[in-house]
Amino acid sequence: MNIRTELQQDYELVLQLNYEAFGNRDDEAELVNRIRRSDRFVPELSIVAEQNGEIVGHLLLSKADVVNENTKHEVIVLAPIAVSPRLQKQGIGRLLIEEGMKRCQVLQVPLVLLIGHPSYYPKFGFRPARPFGLELKQFPASDDVFMVLELRDGALNDIQGELVYPAVFFGG
Ligand SMILES: CC(C)(COP(=O)(O)OP(=O)(O)OC[C@H]1O[C@@H](n2cnc3c(N)ncnc32)[C@H](O)[C@@H]1OP(=O)(O)O)[C@@H](O)C(=O)NCCC(=O)NCCS
Repeated sequence: MNIRTELQQDYELVLQLNYEAFGNRDDEAELVNRIRRSDRFVPELSIVAEQNGEIVGHLLLSKADVVNENTKHEVIVLAPIAVSPRLQKQGIGRLLIEEGMKRCQVLQVPLVLLIGHPSYYPKFGFRPARPFGLELKQFPASDDVFMVLELRDGALNDIQGELVYPAVFFGG
């Protein structure tokens, strides 16, 4: 299994993978496309899992902001992650997330936030975000699905406010 940065030549296959992983729905594939074209895209945080020359997994991490009356902090949001349906539950998602968090640490990202399965992401250290003074208003998300991972010591003390997803998350 080769975990590497997505290249332009992978774009079509990655869109196809997202389509299949999300039940033949193209919302996530279109989201990937919009993020890639935006200034919130970080090329080295679009990561693929390749097996025998085939793209079998993809993780996209991109920039968003936590804002309050006084400040705006840049953070990273995780969305989407997709593993080929026939290869799920074999550790590919884990490899992608671990590599993604390692890269974020190198980039000195303070926090990674997401909306996701409450039984999946805590395996990687994600915890419900609202008790730390983080808020989400743009999406209806219950407390257990809105999660955060602290990558820089003390970041959860320093960064509080509303997570604001960029317009591209809403088709903009
Ligand atoms: C979610 C997804 C990316 C996980 O990838 P994966 O390769 O199947 O996950 P892994 O095999 O690395 O699983 C890691 C751990 O999570 C568990 N797990 C996998 N899918 C899970 C799920 N849907 N819910 C809860 N736990 C899950 C595994 O059992 C494993 O646990 P362990 O390490 O304790 O053994 C993949 O199932 C997928 O593409 N799903 C469809 C798209 C989707 O829903 N994306 C996420 C949106 S939030």
